[in-house]
Amino acid sequence: MAVNGRKVADAPARFAGEGEIADPGLADAGFRRVERTDDGMPVLRAIRAHFEREKPLQGQRIGACLHVTAETANLLRALKAGGAAVACCASNPLSTQDDVAAALVKKYAIPVFAVRGEDRDRYYAHMRAVLESRPTLVIDDGADLISQLHTDFRAQAGQVLGAMEETTTGVIRLRAMERDGALAMPVVAVNDAQTKYLFDNRYGTGQSTLDAIMRVTDMLIAGSVFVVCGYGWCGRGVAMRARGLGAQVVVTEVAPLRALEAALDGFQVMPMRAAARLGDIFTTVTGDRGVIGAAHFPLMKDGAVLANAGHFDVEIDVAALRKMTRKVDRDPAREAETFHLPNGRRLHLLGQGRLVNLACATGHPPQVMDMSFATQALSAQWVARSSRLPSKVHEVPANLVERIAALKLKAMGVRIDALSAEQKRYLASWQSGT
Ligand code: ADE
Repeated sequence: MAVNGRKVADAPARFAGEGEIADPGLADAGFRRVERTDDGMPVLRAIRAHFEREKPLQGQRIGACLHVTAETANLLRALKAGGAAVACCASNPLSTQDDVAAALVKKYAIPVFAVRGEDRDRYYAHMRAVLESRPTLVIDDGADLISQLHTDFRAQAGQVLGAMEETTTGVIRLRAMERDGALAMPVVAVNDAQTKYLFDNRYGTGQSTLDAIMRVTDMLIAGSVFVVCGYGWCGRGVAMRARGLGAQVVVTEVAPLRALEAALDGFQVMPMRAAARLGDIFTTVTGDRGVIGAAHFPLMKDGAVLANAGHFDVEIDVAALRKMTRKVDRDPAREAETFHLPNGRRLHLLGQGRLVNLACATGHPPQVMDMSFATQALSAQWVARSSRLPSKVHEVPANLVERIAALKLKAMGVRIDALSAEQKRYLASWQSGT
């Protein structure tokens, strides 16, 4: 079989199979949630209808490594409607919604390899299962699947027409690969599209992180000291929403420009060592490791809450926390652990230090994932239609971004003005001044 003039192997049985999920009996509940979520994703729905008619992904096999949520289910439905065979594994061991995984398998006939709480071995086995399906397109969140295609599955890299990357952390990894001359396929930095980071990273992470912290702790945010580590788009969103709920927000940063922006946005900015003594709630959103560590835990107040909203579970040094802890109480019902320090204080760690908004809540709302996943779907179509893109990190084409923004505005019933011919001429000229 040939895709874009390249010979690729026929789909093996796995794409026709079911994958591995926790409990097929959850399918009805998952189906109801996926369909309800679809209501909040009008742009993706329009793309699905278009894909159904045009079949732009016919003949493609799409391997997706994503958080298995109701929003993701609607992306996978759209890709399948476009003619692709689709298989999915989890992009985080704790983010899988088992009811959605069951619905994908039983109601939408999309194989899923994901079980909430799976250990590292099973997580990687599931990734391998998707790669054994020999995808021609990849949709990744964190670049774990793409990384596998450059190591254990290197022989298959040449068969991949292109990969889409969903998150900041993944794009950072991919740009490092590009710099090292190691990138063996074209990748699209979906995260860097304005229809993604301006909304998903800011409003999505902002809302879903606060939602998760409140669900697990039942705390009043008003009047608390809320420390946000990192002032990228996600950090801005978390800080904004914590302030909106009445917290005194402290920001820690390493980048002077971002720190300056946080200060002028009205937040207190200080080093982590100083913030450690003040915070009631700490949220890391930096994308880097060891942001809160052994030097900080003993300084913290009794009852302080630790949450991570960055992609990987490296931002809070949980190993160091365990090492210095006398006793740990686990509350599985709440996905929280209480660490008893030798100084008698207790620290509450949410979601094992993994992405708190997905480990302890249901992730970003459908209305923002609508734009992120519309960007993914149209990028997949763009890659499938392009012949032989170079192996580098590509931006999402500007016309796709504008189309999604226009569709979203329309769906929201928001109308805007258009430039007059005179205004267009003025903007295109340089002669007229004072
Ligand atoms: N990332 C953050 N929130 C998400 C969601 N609801 N679905 C998929 N990926 C996400």
